[in-house]
Amino acid sequence: MKRPPLRFVEVGPRDGLQNEAACLPLAAKVEFVDRLSESGLPEIEAGAFVSPRAVPRMADSAAVFKAIARKPGVVYSALVPNERGLGEALEAAAGKIAVFTAASETFNRRNINAGIAESIARFKPVAAGAKAAGLPLRAYVSTAFFCPFEGRVAPKAVLEVVRRLRPLGVDELSIGDTIGRAGPDDVRRLLDVLLPELPVERLFLHFHDTYGMAVANALTAWQEYGVSGFDASAGGLGGCPYAPGASGNVATEDLAFAFKACGGSVPVEIEAVKAAALALRPALGHPLSSRLAALPQDKKL
Ligand code: HMG
Ligand code: MG
Repeated sequence: MKRPPLRFVEVGPRDGLQNEAACLPLAAKVEFVDRLSESGLPEIEAGAFVSPRAVPRMADSAAVFKAIARKPGVVYSALVPNERGLGEALEAAAGKIAVFTAASETFNRRNINAGIAESIARFKPVAAGAKAAGLPLRAYVSTAFFCPFEGRVAPKAVLEVVRRLRPLGVDELSIGDTIGRAGPDDVRRLLDVLLPELPVERLFLHFHDTYGMAVANALTAWQEYGVSGFDASAGGLGGCPYAPGASGNVATEDLAFAFKACGGSVPVEIEAVKAAALALRPALGHPLSSRLAALPQDKKL
């Protein structure tokens, strides 16, 4: 199997910070994004234009987008649930729009107060607006392996959602293990069903790391299926407020280390990502879950 160069989407400033107990000062968020921008990462999901009642920690996303020092070549993307969110993301000059639905009805209702079909219908004008603005469109499919309310999710259910998203003109899909429960065999079962219908270069995998399986899952997808797109979060921050028990995304630095250790070419300076996460630590008020962040600096990484 061909092992293509890796593509990372850094989701720490959005997925990472949306679930934090502490209300971080704007300056700390901006410094986090700016440090990540200098680490070589090609794309950073910098915020979400969602209801501040639903996710209070993303309420200052417009201010974050305004204050960051945009590095040429880096895409700053935004999570958007509806047309109102799109309007705010366009005003903030987001470089990519990401909509989000799920493969399980219960989770989707809890998360965005809509069933799967209804949410996709809601995305139609969002997709059209993103396209009209010349922006690429990402679509997340959450609970693609397990739902915190319904249990195991069948790969066919995920395929069905992917098929329904296709007419929107989605440029890339991010398939999420929202509660971090999947293992490599689950990844194989899903990719066996998805990849015959989906060009592999349009696929990103989004692993939360609750059970410590995210690195194994990502390596399986890359080594056995040639998947090269992965979401990750500096420091291993993150979790969805509507997915009880879910912990953070796989840490960007841990994932980069794992790929490098297996001969992969990664688009990121590991120590710089670590430094970005460590600089945020005092504001977070808790230790980072990342393995590498706990180790002394190593210039050879
Ligand atoms: P709703 O209650 O059905 O919608 O919520 P609504 O239209 O009735 O609006 C409710 C309130 O939100 C109103 O304000 C609206 O003005 C406001 P109120 O009158 O109550 O004061 N509102 C907005 N405010 C700001 N920006 C907007 C917006 N839209 C409405 N865009 C809605 C539906 C989708 C809005 C809500 O449920 C919501 O915002 N949910 C967001 C949930 C969320 O962000 N979850 C975390 C991200 S998803 C995730 O983490 C998973 C992922 O990482 C992948 C994975 O891990 O699997 C992506
Ligand atoms: Mg997530």
